[in-house]
Amino acid sequence: MPEKVLTNRDLESMIDTSDEWITTRTGIRQRHIVSVGENNSDLAVGASRAALEMAGVEASEIDLIIVGTLTPDMPMPSVACLVQRELGAGKAGAFDVSATCSGFLYSLSIADKFVRDNPSMKILVIGSEVLSRRTNWEDRTTCVLFADGAGAAVVTASDGDSGILSTCLHADGSVWDLLTIKGLGTAHPIDQELLSKGWQYIEMKGKDVFKHAVRALESVAHESMEKAGWNNDDLDLLIAHQANIRILDFLRERLNLPKEKVFINIDKYGNTSAASIPIALDEAWRSGRLKKGDNVLMISFGGGFTWAGVTMRW
Ligand code: UT7
Repeated sequence: MPEKVLTNRDLESMIDTSDEWITTRTGIRQRHIVSVGENNSDLAVGASRAALEMAGVEASEIDLIIVGTLTPDMPMPSVACLVQRELGAGKAGAFDVSATCSGFLYSLSIADKFVRDNPSMKILVIGSEVLSRRTNWEDRTTCVLFADGAGAAVVTASDGDSGILSTCLHADGSVWDLLTIKGLGTAHPIDQELLSKGWQYIEMKGKDVFKHAVRALESVAHESMEKAGWNNDDLDLLIAHQANIRILDFLRERLNLPKEKVFINIDKYGNTSAASIPIALDEAWRSGRLKKGDNVLMISFGGGFTWAGVTMRW
């Protein structure tokens, strides 16, 4: 995470909002945001170094780097190439995946297929975002939600019965305009008109997104568990994209899970899009919430829309 922390109290002095509104409507109490000069690739490199150390793998052994992100440093080159250079991962191929908040699970699914095809491969999978630079800090409906951060995993072939059991990827482009950053692509010239419309920023029809999110997440949770051959009782930990505490509470009820089986850290980090699941996974493991042999379900939902589910035995 970037070091700088922005609390709800800080936001109270910037826009017309309150700690009470943000906490009750979203579950967020604070978020981390980058400082001047700190970029997506810096966060991605930090997370990668931690993952390589935890895995006991050298950067020079990595065959492929995949970064899920919607906020790259620049359109070209990819964040993955910048990470490859910084780590000195000389033999690795590198590319970014554009799947918004599902970027990490889409990337993990791709890595899973590569490793199944060639079990000698070692793949670095990263979710990394700098959403604070695509946030309109005058729009209280979005700026209290989104934040920055990165997480990473080293994916290799497993021995024994641990590993990824099922992957499910979905999308629905018909409702693309409910969650967008319209400018800064090639469809619209970057001119005064674009900037005055605020198209360089995230725009979201929050209530509509919420309704789609809960339906899609519940459905992909069932689909992923069914593919893995699990009942709800088999699940030890649900790691869902951290977008809103009310979405997480809804999922807990619908999947009939006790509180301790639903991982929550949105209070500390806000919505970090593609980074939210790997950050949560790392915290769950380091804090002992996730233990060897546990059945983990990871699910995500984001702009596009995209949604995804991955089950794994840790
Ligand atoms: O990561 C991708 C997926 N993203 C999501 O899943 C996000 C899904 N959406 C949500 O989480 C929620 O819809 C939000 C948190 C974005 C909004 O919560 P809501 O309960 O849907 O609130 P709302 O948009 O209906 O707004 C309710 C009221 C409005 O006032 P009026 O019209 O009732 O007078 C808003 O203007 O709350 C007002 N409001 C705020 N008030 C204080 C909106 N934002 C704020 C704010 N502070 N920051």
